[in-house]
Amino acid sequence: MVANRLPVDFTVDENGDVDWQRSPGGLVTALEPVMRGADGAWVGWSGAPGLEHEPFTADEMLLVPVTLSADEIERYYEGFSNDTLWPLYHDVISPPTYHRQWWDAYRKVNLRFAEAAAAQAAPGAVVWVHDYQLQLVPKMLRDLRPDLRIGFFDHIPFPPVELFGQLPWRSQIVEGLLGADLIGFQRGGDASNFVRAVRRLTKHTTRGPIVTVTDDDGQITRHVRAAAFPISIDSKHFDELARKPEVQERAAEIRADLGNPQIMMLGVDRLDYTKGIRHRIKAYGELLQDGRLDVEHATLVQVASPSRENVGAYQELREHVEGLVGRINGEFGELGHSAIHYLHHSYPPEEMAALYLAADVMLVTSLRDGMNLVAKEYVAARSDDQGVLVLSEFTGAADELAPGPLLVNPHDIDGMKDIIVAAAHMDHREQRRRMRRLRRKVMSDDVAKWSETFLGVLTAMPPRTSHV
Ligand code: F6P
Repeated sequence: MVANRLPVDFTVDENGDVDWQRSPGGLVTALEPVMRGADGAWVGWSGAPGLEHEPFTADEMLLVPVTLSADEIERYYEGFSNDTLWPLYHDVISPPTYHRQWWDAYRKVNLRFAEAAAAQAAPGAVVWVHDYQLQLVPKMLRDLRPDLRIGFFDHIPFPPVELFGQLPWRSQIVEGLLGADLIGFQRGGDASNFVRAVRRLTKHTTRGPIVTVTDDDGQITRHVRAAAFPISIDSKHFDELARKPEVQERAAEIRADLGNPQIMMLGVDRLDYTKGIRHRIKAYGELLQDGRLDVEHATLVQVASPSRENVGAYQELREHVEGLVGRINGEFGELGHSAIHYLHHSYPPEEMAALYLAADVMLVTSLRDGMNLVAKEYVAARSDDQGVLVLSEFTGAADELAPGPLLVNPHDIDGMKDIIVAAAHMDHREQRRRMRRLRRKVMSDDVAKWSETFLGVLTAMPPRTSHV
């Protein structure tokens, strides 16, 4: 496994002892249970600058740290990954920045990851590369180790070529990905966007999901498949967690601490401009203003976990969100009744499960989102078949879970207000009907099935170098 981050962020003290905590984000949530059951290594960055460390075992996984200097973190991670690719791949919600020095760092760091993977992999091994930070690794790794079977999974959306075409290095990225045998995406639409980019930007030919890669002489060298493999969570584990008496007690305690409101709404996101947090809070504030909700009966808990705090767009977002929360609380809050409980923290899975159990309405209002695993966690936690999921149309999860959730377009504030009110007033029978449907899907299509399906297709593909 090769991913930008290891599943843990770690620090080494002066005695050389390693201490770690779980890394943020959906990728780790999804991949950690896959790797625990596998006999393999996870190659990734430790989360700290300049930290050099030998491979080590943590939580039954062999972790192989890749070192990044402070300068590389700035240019490769904060710069090219999170200020160029991230906004470009999320519908340019925030304007992407194109810097040649950032691209140079991205290439250099991708090569380091490819070399680390090449050094770890046994002859003929399967190597699975993940996400937008490492799109050049498949080709670099194939050049180093043609014996390997290489898969790539893109956890975020792949943009239409009309947007992707802005990238000065668009052809290099496409060629980098085509080093893989199998390229997985969250949605069918992402896979077809990629295939269109291949047709528009390279000389290779395509037929349905298959790209035929040719060399400089026009000779066919390989076939690459691009297809959708929607990711999931360890649903059973989350379901079991939420059934624990201590988690259920904690859920009751949370509601009591909030003053036992009739309606508790919940948002859980990394503090990221793609998540539609401002749109959601704006809609909520207007509902209080209009008198369609009131603070004595309803409250919104917004968990916004800190993310990418050195990137300007994230700093601006934090200011906006916190200003908005302050204004709404100042205007509508009463002693003992806050309109919005805003929590700029990350919480462990037990606390998240308790929050999900406590919430009557879960608000997922992303402007664009590869999948959104929070939506699936909420469903997995609700073995009581209660609770309403309000879900943005612009998430991968909406493609999979409809018609169970109430779908919203977060740009349509009035439409979203109506849906939030409908969710708050939904009767228990209708909640049960929808939640059962959602649970059938989420409990059966879990992350183990996702990885087995992807790896099954990858290993069943015909030999890698064939002249046909
Ligand atoms: O898939 C989205 C993603 O960027 C993952 O690659 C990443 O692990 C997660 O979100 C959290 O982001 P970051 O690693 O930048 O904190």
